[in-house]
Amino acid sequence: MSFPPQFLDELRERILLSQLIGKKVKLTKRGREYTGLCPFHHEKTPSFTINDDKGFYHCFGCGAHGDIVRYLTDCEKMPFLEAVEYLAHMAGLSMPQSSPEAIQRQTTYKNELTIMEEACLYFQQQLFSERGEKARTYFKNRGITAQIAKQFRLGYAPKGSGLTVRLQEKGLSLKTAASLGLVVENTEKRSRHDYFYDRVMFPILNRRKQVIAFGGRLLEKGEPKYLNSPETALFHKGEQLYALANAIETIRKKNQAILVEGYMDVIALHSAGFTNAVAPLGTAFTENQLQLLWQSCDEPLICFDGDGAGRKAAIRAMNRAIPILTPGKSLQFVFLPDTFDPDDMIRKKSPQAFQDALMGAKTLSWTLWNSLIESRSLDTPERRAKLEKDATAVIETIKHEKVRNYYLKDLKNKLWQLEKQTKNQKNTLSFKGAQAISKPLAGRQEGRMLLAYLICYPHIAQNMLETMTDIQLNEAQTQEQLSQIIELLIENPDYSSEQIKDVVFIQKDIPLPAEVEMLQKSNRSDIEVEKELNKWLQTLRLQSLIAEKDEKLKAFAQNSTMELWQEINSLKKEIEKLSTSE
Ligand code: UTP
Ligand code: MN
Repeated sequence: MSFPPQFLDELRERILLSQLIGKKVKLTKRGREYTGLCPFHHEKTPSFTINDDKGFYHCFGCGAHGDIVRYLTDCEKMPFLEAVEYLAHMAGLSMPQSSPEAIQRQTTYKNELTIMEEACLYFQQQLFSERGEKARTYFKNRGITAQIAKQFRLGYAPKGSGLTVRLQEKGLSLKTAASLGLVVENTEKRSRHDYFYDRVMFPILNRRKQVIAFGGRLLEKGEPKYLNSPETALFHKGEQLYALANAIETIRKKNQAILVEGYMDVIALHSAGFTNAVAPLGTAFTENQLQLLWQSCDEPLICFDGDGAGRKAAIRAMNRAIPILTPGKSLQFVFLPDTFDPDDMIRKKSPQAFQDALMGAKTLSWTLWNSLIESRSLDTPERRAKLEKDATAVIETIKHEKVRNYYLKDLKNKLWQLEKQTKNQKNTLSFKGAQAISKPLAGRQEGRMLLAYLICYPHIAQNMLETMTDIQLNEAQTQEQLSQIIELLIENPDYSSEQIKDVVFIQKDIPLPAEVEMLQKSNRSDIEVEKELNKWLQTLRLQSLIAEKDEKLKAFAQNSTMELWQEINSLKKEIEKLSTSE
């Protein structure tokens, strides 16, 4: 649709950018411009500027640039037409009604939304009516309270064609309802009936909380378990995420999104306080959906079901992300135990169990490496060369040059470590194949956990500082931060968590590790913390000892002294003791 150019100009004149963006971003006036934290990418110091005189915003961090319309289409993901309408409302102007087709399209769009809203209200009413009894029982058995049902606008589509009748009574177009997949017309269009039949209903809302589609689940076993609205003028499933409107605020605030597979997973997580959970809509996770998440956080957590299918879907999500990685933007992966899905974890285990699973999140580079070495034998040079070749091929697909180069460097490192390990393990005659080789590289997550515990609970860590100084992490940055904090705490034993954050991170503009926030949220008791800290410490200590032993063994091969041999032996004993005391 085209508007007379003067209409857009008029909008730009009447609506100040700072007024529009100021609703979402805290702005500070600097001379003729405003600055604030960029809404297009995650940042800790403002590089986003607004010039009301020129009518443009510009971000020096991510390069986002545009005017009021562009802001709504890019940041709020509004279709162009809707953005102009939004602005017209804001300015108190009525829409110019230029071409007849444009008016037609606009009217249709409004009617479609009206019908969807009416359908949603109908399903909600049915749930709480007499006929909705078994649906209410179904939800109740799945742990969904009336309050959650209201929040997610859950409903029930009974048997029969009640919706068709209702829409007709309201004078709404059944033809439009059919185009939206709510009503089915038979071939001669003589009769019509409801599409959703005896199912509990999950409305799908867009970012503006308008109903654009539904998913309906059978109450008993049967096929298809979930029936979703077809692709319609309102609903493009690859561009939407279930519950995004509900989750977006938390996602922004935490710089963290949890992507799960199903509607029920999202609802269970939101009920348990994980209000940053969203799900794709019965399809694979698309690039479009990933970009949507990357607008609000840096490393969404992929947390699919713990079964084979879930794992495969996670790997597919990884492969989708790899070519479009950019600095700072990635994914993390949570692998749930057994065949649990997040809903099971919350209800059959506990929210804490899910939280713990989140803490074990793996980075994309870790997941990639592990998916490559998993079930491969790496005991010959040819096989290791093949690994290098395959890994390189995947990394070469990364479009962003810098990220690609870092991945190549990282690969080189890993291959080199693999080589080193292989050699050492052959010396000790305890070579156990790929599994054993890859292990020392996993120390990174444990290191980060230890760091997070130290940041959050310095008072409990006090009497373990000594042991911590022994630990050598294989991630330089984490090691550096760990040493700094240990030093700090040795010097100032009563430093608080806040003081540590301030000195080591905030003052230096270094982001806090993601694990810190997760820990803070988890409300652990001192006793639990102490136990867990000890556990991480023990794991890391064990890893350090093994590395040290390997080092010494290598030296021993060069220079076989009795002294060295005794050192190696006592290391071996210590390792044995530590690993059996677990
Ligand atoms: P799951 O089968 O894992 O569903 O499918 P779930 O969420 O655990 O369902 P419950 O717990 O049995 O109720 C995950 C998602 O895949 C889509 C739905 O979006 C579902 O939430 N799906 C699944 C379909 O679209 N159609 C189906 O027949 C099955
Ligand atoms: Mn489930």
